[in-house]
Amino acid sequence: MQKLIINGGKRLRGEIKLQGSKNSSLPIMAGAVLCGGECVLNNCPELTDIYSASRILNHLGCKCRFSENTAVINSADINVTEIPEKLMREMRSSIIFMGAVLGRTGECIVSMPGGCELGSRPIDMHISAMRKMGIDVKESHGKIICHAPSGKAHGAKISLPFPSVGATENIILCAVTADGETIINNSAREPEISDLCGFLRACGAEISGDGESRIVIKGKNKLHGCDYRIMPDRIAGATYLAMTACTGGEIILTDACVSETEPFISVLEQTGCTITTYDNRIYLRSGSRLKAVRDRIRTMPHPGFPTDAQAVLMSALVTADGVSVFEENIFDCRYRHTDALVKMGADIQVLGKIAVIKGVSRLHGAEIQATDLRGGASMVNAALSAEGTSEISGIHHIDRGYEKIENVVRLLGGDIRRV
Ligand code: EPZ
Repeated sequence: MQKLIINGGKRLRGEIKLQGSKNSSLPIMAGAVLCGGECVLNNCPELTDIYSASRILNHLGCKCRFSENTAVINSADINVTEIPEKLMREMRSSIIFMGAVLGRTGECIVSMPGGCELGSRPIDMHISAMRKMGIDVKESHGKIICHAPSGKAHGAKISLPFPSVGATENIILCAVTADGETIINNSAREPEISDLCGFLRACGAEISGDGESRIVIKGKNKLHGCDYRIMPDRIAGATYLAMTACTGGEIILTDACVSETEPFISVLEQTGCTITTYDNRIYLRSGSRLKAVRDRIRTMPHPGFPTDAQAVLMSALVTADGVSVFEENIFDCRYRHTDALVKMGADIQVLGKIAVIKGVSRLHGAEIQATDLRGGASMVNAALSAEGTSEISGIHHIDRGYEKIENVVRLLGGDIRRV
């Protein structure tokens, strides 16, 4: 099992180009199933979750290859509609293939997806939406067996009880080739949804309203392949901004998505960092000790503060001057990183969805273990700001979402190695 060894205490400084978005690439790769031709995806990050998606594509009969952050997917031949449990368990986004395979073939067999352990992560909204679109869904021996009795899904009016990102994506993927019009009320507004819609439009789909809470999809008989550039990864961007902030450093992020990162930037600015943005660049300078964030940080669906950035911001606030309070409203178990931060000297009290952080003057190095993707990234940040050496195990979690994190940290002058 690999580990990251980090000698903390260095101010990070430098310029980095941001990776493409994991959470856009995964549904877009699933969307390629619908095209029946060749899709060229540029700026696709090379991550273990992306390789899991390509294994699913290959299993279905598509051809998928990577070279220098470009994925080329040819979905001319789909000869399998069942995704084995082993592939489903590799990541949460495997469930997004349900809508795409149904849209292409009118049938599919999947099972419960894997992914980060962030508490219970049901798929009831996905299934109920598929049923509304005329899909017969049965659960048997752990398998979810779906088929469209009429050969095709039909359009429907769907009101989501919560703006679930994955359910919104699955409905869109199933609806773009369905018979008739689908309307999603209370749809998720995350930028990655708009990226998926941008890709599908480039393939000939008719979708409007993405980025808002009501998406309208007019089903088309056929889509075609396209060339598409994946948006930058706003959460990786938030991670590198927080990382630099907690080391008292300075960074220029290029190829960033400025407006999409705004909900995070507006909170990070309250710590006293200077942050300026121009075109697709974000500049951050962090001087002396950070200040605690005065207002409670509530994670919310976009455009609220992103749950995926909660852990990485916390890694900066554990050494800020004063008390900061988080309220995690999206997942019921997303504070698993706090034990590691406490082992490094942080003062954190967790009670249900609330975490109270009393800033300490410094952290010290420790042997710690990543337990999920963003929690793992927060440990890298904390280790970089700590005095002494830290050893982080469980880094396969980090590799799911950060492209060669040690290379990025080294480029910024950090002392890190993978062993
Ligand atoms: C996506 O997960 C992201 N994953 C997550 O990022 C992100 O944290 C999350 O959206 C929220 O922004 C990808 O895009 C691959 P949801 P998803 O459906 O789609 C409940 C990361 O670190 N729910 O919006 O799974 C669910 O349990 C990852 O990159 C139901 O109850 O999130 C959760 O509490 C982690 N029933 C809430 O909704 C359902 O049918 C939000 O989940 C679906 C969801």
